[in-house]
Amino acid sequence: MKIAVAGTGYVGLVAGVCFAEVGHDVTCVDIDEKKVKLMESGVSPIYEEGLEELMKKNNATGRLHYTTDYASAYKNADAIFIGVGTPEMPDGSANLSFLATVCRQIAENVEHDCLVVVKSTVPIGTNDKVEQFIKDFLVRDVKVEVASNPEFLAQGTAVRDTLHAARIIIGTESKEAEDKLMEIYEPFGLPIVSVKRRSAEMIKYACNDFLALKISYMNDIANLCELVGADIEDVAKGMSYDARIGERFLNAGIGFGGSCFPKDTKALRFLANQHGYELKTVDACVEVNKLQKTRLFEKAKDRMITFAGLKVAVLGLTFKAGTDDLREAPASENIKLLLDQGAEIYAYDPAGVPRAKQQFPEGEISRGIMRYVDTPELALEGANICFIFTEWGEIKAVKPADYKRLMRTPLVYDGRNLHAVEDMKAAGVEYYSIGR
Ligand code: UDX
Repeated sequence: MKIAVAGTGYVGLVAGVCFAEVGHDVTCVDIDEKKVKLMESGVSPIYEEGLEELMKKNNATGRLHYTTDYASAYKNADAIFIGVGTPEMPDGSANLSFLATVCRQIAENVEHDCLVVVKSTVPIGTNDKVEQFIKDFLVRDVKVEVASNPEFLAQGTAVRDTLHAARIIIGTESKEAEDKLMEIYEPFGLPIVSVKRRSAEMIKYACNDFLALKISYMNDIANLCELVGADIEDVAKGMSYDARIGERFLNAGIGFGGSCFPKDTKALRFLANQHGYELKTVDACVEVNKLQKTRLFEKAKDRMITFAGLKVAVLGLTFKAGTDDLREAPASENIKLLLDQGAEIYAYDPAGVPRAKQQFPEGEISRGIMRYVDTPELALEGANICFIFTEWGEIKAVKPADYKRLMRTPLVYDGRNLHAVEDMKAAGVEYYSIGR
């Protein structure tokens, strides 16, 4: 099958590469010439385990191409997958302008019947409009249908999540569209759930918001555990054996971040409001997460007279381990607060520093100072206080005794519960974590 993919971010590029891997002829389209050259040489513009290997392999087979020339990529494609971003607008709604641009380019260039498949997360009902929009702008007498095919990959495990997905969701309004998508996904050998287009769109939001709710629920329970003297780690363990609850996504912590949960909870809430419905569960989830992100900072603020002039070690900048992405990362919000209070920050992250430097350039910011170091030890040396924001293996590897030995005052606020409370206590570290 001849496939074009619009957008080479996490969703588009990973889909394109995996389609080539299972034997399709794929052209990935991006507007950025430099990015295209990079991808042609087998370099991935995103940090994702296993992706470059597959890019190099499939570039060599001749099944994977990259171009800025969208017209030639779209004109003869059997299917065009759209994986462009749908970022959050200030009011919480989804920004569909990138999607609209691609749809117009498709309409003006397709030369034979084709299926447009929207992978981007879009509000329920959007794909009805997308189909109409493309029809309105069509230049030639061809049939274009739109299908929904939401993406469930998580950053850091994107390739694995795609090639070994738990299921493929396809949302179509005709037998032809359904058959074509079935044919495209057949070589993956994965379970396919075929539903109507609006249901497919809803499945994506319902999944993401459910997982976000699960995390906020655990954070809420963790906060209560602290007040009543229970331990959230034990509570989560006890819950996990119940197959109805499951063992994953029970980790309480510093709140969820990333490019999906924050945006998709707000988007669904916005959509519900538009229909005159108050989605109270999701509202609560958003609210709990907002408070959770700065909970440790608030605790530390109560403990200190001031952060001004203090050396603060920040371990972890990305929104989770395994990615260099800082979008909605709890660390960023806390760093901003610390700098406003005059802290001198020494930050360590194995992958996030280049992106963090764009947000917080090295040197004086607000009333504080921002510095980056290459090891956790350098961040901790002589520090008055330490915040752990990401669960990287390199950060987990720092031993309780190291905090005691390296820091001026061994005072640690851990947003990821990386250490046993007793171990930190035994090492002489004043330790605050979540829900214990
Ligand atoms: C998520 C979904 O998992 C994926 O299916 C969807 O397609 C996109 O959004 P991603 O944002 O890459 O993927 O990361 P994920 O691993 O789901 O983590 C999201 C956030 O939740 C992170 O900040 C993470 O630290 C946090 N989290 C996750 C917890 O706080 N506790 C948990 O138990 C799990």
